[in-house]
Amino acid sequence: MKKIYTGIRGTCDFTPSKSHSFNKITQTARQIFKVFGYEEVILPLLEEEDLFKRGVGETTEIVERQMFKIQGKSIVLRPEGTAQVVRYYLENSLYKQSDFHKFSYIGAMFRGERPQKGRLRQFHHIGAEAIGSDSFYLDGEIIALSMKILEGIGIQEKQLLINSLGCLEDKEKFSQKIKKILNSKKDKLCPDCQRRLERNPLRVLDCKRQECRGVVTSLNLGKESLCSNCKSRFENLLFTLDNLKIKYTQTPYLVRGLDYYTNVVFEIISGSLGSQDALGAGGRYNNLVRDLGGPDIPGIGFSLGIERILLALKTSQEEKKIKVFIITASETLLGAGFKILQRLREQNLACDMDYCGKSLKGQLRYACKRGAKYVVILGEEEWKEQCVMLKDMEKSVQEKVKIEDLAALLKKYMIL
Ligand code: HAM
Repeated sequence: MKKIYTGIRGTCDFTPSKSHSFNKITQTARQIFKVFGYEEVILPLLEEEDLFKRGVGETTEIVERQMFKIQGKSIVLRPEGTAQVVRYYLENSLYKQSDFHKFSYIGAMFRGERPQKGRLRQFHHIGAEAIGSDSFYLDGEIIALSMKILEGIGIQEKQLLINSLGCLEDKEKFSQKIKKILNSKKDKLCPDCQRRLERNPLRVLDCKRQECRGVVTSLNLGKESLCSNCKSRFENLLFTLDNLKIKYTQTPYLVRGLDYYTNVVFEIISGSLGSQDALGAGGRYNNLVRDLGGPDIPGIGFSLGIERILLALKTSQEEKKIKVFIITASETLLGAGFKILQRLREQNLACDMDYCGKSLKGQLRYACKRGAKYVVILGEEEWKEQCVMLKDMEKSVQEKVKIEDLAALLKKYMIL
């Protein structure tokens, strides 16, 4: 027996119905990006490994364990879009053309994770990055934009978690404080977190394991590690969100798994997703442009995971795509039926016919299965008169129609 190949674990094939939902989601996102003034960039799937080491952080999960590296080269499949957009921005010296830029992107990302529901090795991001302003109004815009896209897509049930890490100094102070407190509870942490505590203490707050979550939530963290400037900045943002009528939950242990964040970080979660509950996430990265060799320019952005959105949408109901199905009473009429099919398609009517030699009954059954609203039946008698029988499948009524009038009539019925 010849081997039947299966897809790589952690990747997924998009069925026609899933592809349809994928396209609807991306269309909605593109429309909303336009309204908010974000311009789309399409960037490569391959990038230099070092970009993410410096951008995302050497001791992050993504860089330490999850990057897909091209054998023998220092090239990786991109694990995320933010460092990449900043690379594009710096490579083209865009800050010389204008002091403020807003980008959007939609595309595949790759992370070598242990696959499970909602956690894949190849997945898709809808993302936005705004580079050149430190305004808390822009923070508000970015959060409003991410929520608006999810709303536009039809995600009702979602919760916005928000926190501020403060500036670099605040973050360092917070990190040392966490290290000190958690050192006394080290034996209660998972082996990974015991190691993280030495190299990157904030990562412990991000651990999803039950035992670590328990320790972290018992810490009763507050906003006390923020300097007065960062504190009032965060309060201004929360006030802006109140004015935008965006509900949020302040979550002091939300730190995010990427090192570039400073000040606001946020995550949008959905209870319907199980343990991988984040539909999307983002935050400010005021040092990333500088860390990647550019001038001191702040930025903020977010990414939404399309596969998680699809899970949350419960895309079970099949879209009825074929509106009209052509049925021929005999094989000799196939050519005539094929001509009618082309005529209707020229008029942009979604239609199809059978190519497998099914009986009349078989064709009717197949038309039902495809969800056809109308069937066009071509018999010998009708063909002689240059007519067809047009049947409305929902109302179960039929009428004889001249072939030359068919397209116009179908269009009229579909508008009604
Ligand atoms: P992230 O949290 O790593 O952030 O990813 C954003 C979203 O992508 C997650 O909330 C989740 O919905 C989805 N996602 C992540 N990993 C996977 C996976 N393995 N399988 C399926 N979906 C996944 C970032 O990547 C940042 N670049 C976000 C950002 C943009 N921050 C500022 N600008």
